[in-house]
Amino acid sequence: MIFSNLVDANLNTDFIGRNLEYYSRLASTNDEAWELITEKAPSGSIIITDNQFKGRGRYGNEWISAPSMGLTFSLILYDLKNLHKLPFMIGVSVCEALKEFNFKIKLKWPNDIILNDKKIGGILCESKNINNGKTVVIGLGMNVNEKADDFPDNLRKSAISLSMVSNKTFQRERVLAKILNHFEKNLDLLDRKNLELFKIWESFCNHINKKVTFHYNNVNVVGRFINISDKGNAIIEINNRKEEFSSGIVEINNTI
Ligand code: BTN
Repeated sequence: MIFSNLVDANLNTDFIGRNLEYYSRLASTNDEAWELITEKAPSGSIIITDNQFKGRGRYGNEWISAPSMGLTFSLILYDLKNLHKLPFMIGVSVCEALKEFNFKIKLKWPNDIILNDKKIGGILCESKNINNGKTVVIGLGMNVNEKADDFPDNLRKSAISLSMVSNKTFQRERVLAKILNHFEKNLDLLDRKNLELFKIWESFCNHINKKVTFHYNNVNVVGRFINISDKGNAIIEINNRKEEFSSGIVEINNTI
């Protein structure tokens, strides 16, 4: 159960998170958010569930979450500009929020949330043109109180939770509220110069200047991840040439 009054008590936002729609069970909070948009849900609405059974990830992947352990929620925003910066702003907000709980969260391009070199969360941003403006649904999956056994076998090596690192149990409402507080504070980063946000993002990135294997269009290349462009693309040096990629998967080559 997520207690909306506990979320509310920890929020310092004007509008983000002030309307919270809780469901005990839901296929996907992103899908439900799109439904609620047709019913004119207010901007800043949060759709959250304790048991998401058909969570969607990027590249058509599934997002698997054990009931009542983590956070699976979506945020609705209307008339947003500079959407290419949004996933980066969200990643930064999550890092800043979890710093308040003393976690050193890192980011992997474009928007994986990493703790101790394992994935602790993921972001799925979706947008549609509605009434001449961009309507956005931001989905966030975050592992909070899971133990290793709560993850399916195939994820056990690569997934981690806040609890596994700290041996503590967290009130998910507090974690959620802190993340939302930083989201709202950082919204103005979308309107400021690209570089400002991207520099902050790079300060949380765990593979700047590192050797990486980059997977795109069924091709794997090895290179050095330099930084991100003003479009948010990955700039990777391959055979002494800098190349720019708008999508793909970064695998960090710790052994090279
Ligand atoms: C990724 O592939 O890393 C992104 C995962 C995003 C999962 C979240 S959980 C809440 C929201 N609802 C969904 O169906 N997906 C997102």
